[in-house]
Formats: sequence, structure tokens, C-alpha cells
Amino acid sequence: MDIILGPSSPVLGKRISKALNSRIIAAEFKKFPDGELYARLLGESKQAAIIQSICSNDDLVFLLLLLDALEEAEKTVVIPYFGYARQDRKFKEGEGISIRAIAKLIEGYTDRILTVNLHSEMAKSHFRKIHEIDAMPVIGSEYKDRDVVMISPDLGSLERVKIAAKHADCDFDYLEKKRIDASHVEITPKEIDVEGKEVVIVDDIISTGGTIIEATKVLKDLGAKRVEAVCVHAVLANYALSKLFNSGIDDVIATDTIERIISKITVANEIAGELEKLML
Ligand code: R5P
Repeated sequence: MDIILGPSSPVLGKRISKALNSRIIAAEFKKFPDGELYARLLGESKQAAIIQSICSNDDLVFLLLLLDALEEAEKTVVIPYFGYARQDRKFKEGEGISIRAIAKLIEGYTDRILTVNLHSEMAKSHFRKIHEIDAMPVIGSEYKDRDVVMISPDLGSLERVKIAAKHADCDFDYLEKKRIDASHVEITPKEIDVEGKEVVIVDDIISTGGTIIEATKVLKDLGAKRVEAVCVHAVLANYALSKLFNSGIDDVIATDTIERIISKITVANEIAGELEKLML
């Protein structure tokens, strides 16, 4: 299987090609003065996997252009971070279901899609077939030699955090979160035992950073010695990283589903392993 490095995932794509010992089919990308996008493959392939996270509208269009360029080849699409998944239902009458619209577009070209920690089961239900990889084991393993407590910022993420904590071999607990609007959340202080401990907040996405900032305040008030955060997808909208470090958090790290300066954990081996299984 050949690998195509989409413009949003070149580092992860390269790591996957190395893990699989696969050839990379080079590609070029450009943006015209009017904003239209262009992609060209510089080689042929009979069987290829495109590695391309969808963090922006341009990322989605580049993915469609690469799929089209592959013509008759057997195509696998790896979308490590699948944006638009949070609009997985109608929250208000008349809304479009974003992830359903995008699922239809991509599945028009391929029915083999691989992703990492898709936002929800509801988002998943809009695909005919999607393979989901859980990054929690690899995240948990990162902490296995440290004495930490893992905290979920809300009840909804607790199942995920349990898996990370199992791999870190540590205790876990959760906080209670209420979302006020897109960038504000309220975390209710809750009796959890973090006094004098090193705490790691585990979440799937850090977007505005609001959730982690509020959780950090509560945990420090409860006496935590050190508070760090780890997430799968470092969306980091609106200067989130600057806000996080200004809020007094001790460290923030993420996987490389979105390539950021804090992407210290790779999911390349997990994706390569799944690709190998799918190709059997
Ligand atoms: C919520 O359902 C997710 O698990 C994250 O907690 C959320 O997306 C984080 O968003 P923000 O960083 O904007 O608080």
C-alpha cells in the first residue's frame, strides 16, 4: 500500500509510512489567488492510503481532490482528527448535520475510512462504515512510570479516562461540567481526593481550552500539587495554548492527530497496525 501525505498530516503520515515500510507517493498543493485549491499526485498507485486530518474547510477540499486524483486505485482514507463531528445532530430546528454531510461526500469516493477517537457514537452513526482507533491506551502508557491521578473533566469522558488510567496503572475520578456557550464552561467543585497529588486531566479535544482551564482551577483549589492536561486532538482554537499556559497549568500535551508543538505522543503505530489488518 502506498501512502499519500495530505497537507494537514505530513509528520504523522511519514511516521505511518515508516511503520509500514510503504512508499510515499509525492503530491503538490497550491491555493489560487481567488482561494480555490489544487492538488496533484506526482506518481501512480494501485492501492493508496491518504493521511489527512480535517481541521479546516481547506483540509476537506484537499482530501476530496486527492481522492479524485487517485481515480481507479483502491483508496483508504485515514482522517486522524475528523472535524465537524461535534455537529452530530440537530441542536436547533433547521440546522444541517455537518458530520452527516461530510460523511456522504467522502463515502462517495471510498467506503474505507479510519479515524481516531471520533467525537461520539452519534457522529459514527452517520457513516456506513468507519474504523475507529482509541488513543487512550497509548496516552495512558505515556504515564505508566509516574505516580499520577487521571481526571475526566466531565462524566461523558469518564469511560475514555478509565481506559487511559488502566494503561497508566493509576487512580481516576471525574468532575462535573456544564457548558454555558461555545467557549465557556462551568465546573462544579466536587469532593475528590487530589490533595498533594500530581493530576493529569484527560480529554478527547482541547478546543478553546475553556474546559481544561476551569478544571485546573478547581483541581488546584482542591490542593493538587501539579496539574497537567493531555488530549487526543489539540484543536487549540483562539490562542488556546497561550490561555492555557497563562492560566497556571503545568503542562499540556497531545497526540499527533493534529500536528502541533505539543503533539508529543504518536498514534502512528496504532494507525499502521489497523491499516495492516484492513489490507489482509
Ligand atoms: C466535549 O464534549 C469535549 O470532550 C471537550 O471537553 C471539549 O470539546 C473541549 O472544548 P474546549 O476546549 O473549548 O472547552
